[in-house]
Amino acid sequence: MKFYVTTPIYYVNDVPHIGHAYTTLAADVIARYKRLCGYQVFFLTGTDEHGQKVQQAAEKRGVVPQKHADELNIAFKNLWRKLNISNDDFIRTTEDRHKKVVQKALQILFDKKDIYKESYEGWYCLSDERFWMEKDLKDGSCPDCGRKVEYIKEWNYFFRMGKYQDWLIQYIKDNPRFIMPESRRNEVLGFLGRPLGDLCISRPKERLSWGISLPFDENYVTYVWFDALVNYISAIGFEYDKDKFKSWWPSNHHLLGKDILTTHSVYWSTMLKALGLPLPENIFAHGWWTVNGEKMSKSKGNFVNPNELIDEYGVDAFRYFLMREVPFGLDGDFSQRALVGRINSDLANDLGNLLSRTLNMIKKYREGKIPSEIKNKDRKLEQDIKDLVKFKEYDDLMNELNFNYMLTRLWAVIRSMNVYAQTAAPWAEKDDGILSNTLYTLAEGLRIIAVYIYPFMPETGQEIWNQLGIKDKIENCNFKESIKWGGLKDGIEIKIGRQLFPRVEEKMESVDKVTATESAVAEAEERQVIGIDEFAKVDLRVGEIKQAERVEKSKKLLKLKVDIGTEERQVVAGIAEHYKPEELIGRKILLVANLKPAKLMGIESQGMVLAAGGDGRLVLIGFDGEVKSGTKVK
Ligand code: ME8
Repeated sequence: MKFYVTTPIYYVNDVPHIGHAYTTLAADVIARYKRLCGYQVFFLTGTDEHGQKVQQAAEKRGVVPQKHADELNIAFKNLWRKLNISNDDFIRTTEDRHKKVVQKALQILFDKKDIYKESYEGWYCLSDERFWMEKDLKDGSCPDCGRKVEYIKEWNYFFRMGKYQDWLIQYIKDNPRFIMPESRRNEVLGFLGRPLGDLCISRPKERLSWGISLPFDENYVTYVWFDALVNYISAIGFEYDKDKFKSWWPSNHHLLGKDILTTHSVYWSTMLKALGLPLPENIFAHGWWTVNGEKMSKSKGNFVNPNELIDEYGVDAFRYFLMREVPFGLDGDFSQRALVGRINSDLANDLGNLLSRTLNMIKKYREGKIPSEIKNKDRKLEQDIKDLVKFKEYDDLMNELNFNYMLTRLWAVIRSMNVYAQTAAPWAEKDDGILSNTLYTLAEGLRIIAVYIYPFMPETGQEIWNQLGIKDKIENCNFKESIKWGGLKDGIEIKIGRQLFPRVEEKMESVDKVTATESAVAEAEERQVIGIDEFAKVDLRVGEIKQAERVEKSKKLLKLKVDIGTEERQVVAGIAEHYKPEELIGRKILLVANLKPAKLMGIESQGMVLAAGGDGRLVLIGFDGEVKSGTKVK
């Protein structure tokens, strides 16, 4: 019953952004869940403090790298506190406990001749800190970041990575859960289809001084990736605390973004093999967050700062959004509009509303005390809710890290409870026993839902328990026990408290970000299948654009008048960066005609124009032939 989960250790060349928050939050969710299930958990995160990037960032600020790292790692620690991250350790690669293990690992590999010295020449990318072959360059620049490369000739130390290539291919084939999701596993196998070669693991000190000295040659420092990857074993005592190491290694999950999958699945796996250690049970590479369709970058000034979002919307709303919006493993696009949408619909409307109506009815009809459940008064309505809250797939979905689908399913339960509250109509109920059962069913359902919610939104889960009058702390409970029906004791006094999630109306109108989650929604379908009935609810119509004009003070929005045969609709569309108003007149487009009207920048939009999006480009959907306005699309 041990569970070891890690995040990447983040570079301290800059402050954390939403991407860093994402991985750490996912690790927190699974760590909290496993603790509830009775596992002893070790959840590790930290900072990567050596190497060129950090040295350059320090130079820019005019401080020495150590001082820079000492200051910047605090920004990560502070964010994790604010985000309610429950990590058990935080490792910094400049700590002695880490440096010693890196040197020990290097010495082991050197002694067994898996590290050798050789003269090397090639193209070197300063920013990525890696060599490239001439054939890999793109127009003479780094194929990865596009920056200029330098031709370098020098002696260096190499790790015999190539020697383990065949073994690694076989290992990945034999262990389907080792690299997830499957698409990423196939990518790695594709990468391994070409000769692997050896890995340069040193940098001469005259070129880079900020790193861990090689134990067998003082003139060199360790390549930052060799140094960084070792954190996963240095934090748990490799070669200095045998018992601790034995109890945690191998890890259950290394969570990371798809950008660093090769270093983990190829470099790290072969390093471990060479060290004679077993491989982690799973390496999970999640997708990439963009902001309004664009890569986050300092130069574009579009970094999303998690601190500001937490201050503005609250920690649990932010946590919920990140885990709910995008299937874990796929790319997603961030927009405040999408965040506010989730708060208003899922959190305020569905969950908040369910709690407040339940508590208010208990106050009104039962003097604020949880009623008893009367065994023979259950109807099918109550039975249905009991079946629903059993949520048998919860454990499987959590173990697959399928957070987004998990929350989708959980919210289906919450919505069903709201429907139940309406159908059961306690305000019209004459039978006292049935009324007691209805109120108990709602309160007990909420108690269990709070447990399900807790790994994602720890404060909210606990707040629901507090308001139901339960004195225990969810974090001290056992998951299996606490989701059994009937745990809520009758007679306890409820404590109506703050509204869980107040609606954020005004912001919806002022936020000028429309391309909320196209990629997320499209890709979600890979993991979430909908039935034809659900699809049939969407009224898709052919429309003709009669008028188009820019929306004042908005870079993205156009106001359109669209003829859909029976009427003319006013539609606000986020396509101004891709189409000029005049080129749209007379154009046939595809419109979602039964979307609830919404206001964008204060202008009502009665429908949504469909466009294909990605890579920052939007292309309107058209028709391969003549169609009349108003034609239904099936
Ligand atoms: O690569 N979307 O550190 P790093 C999603 N120090 N996740 C993102 C993201 C985005 N836009 N941007 C960053 C390093 N991440 C090395 C790691 S580990 C031994 C050494 C997350 O600061 C994601 O987890 O560049 C990604 O893999 C990681 O931050 C990269 O962080």
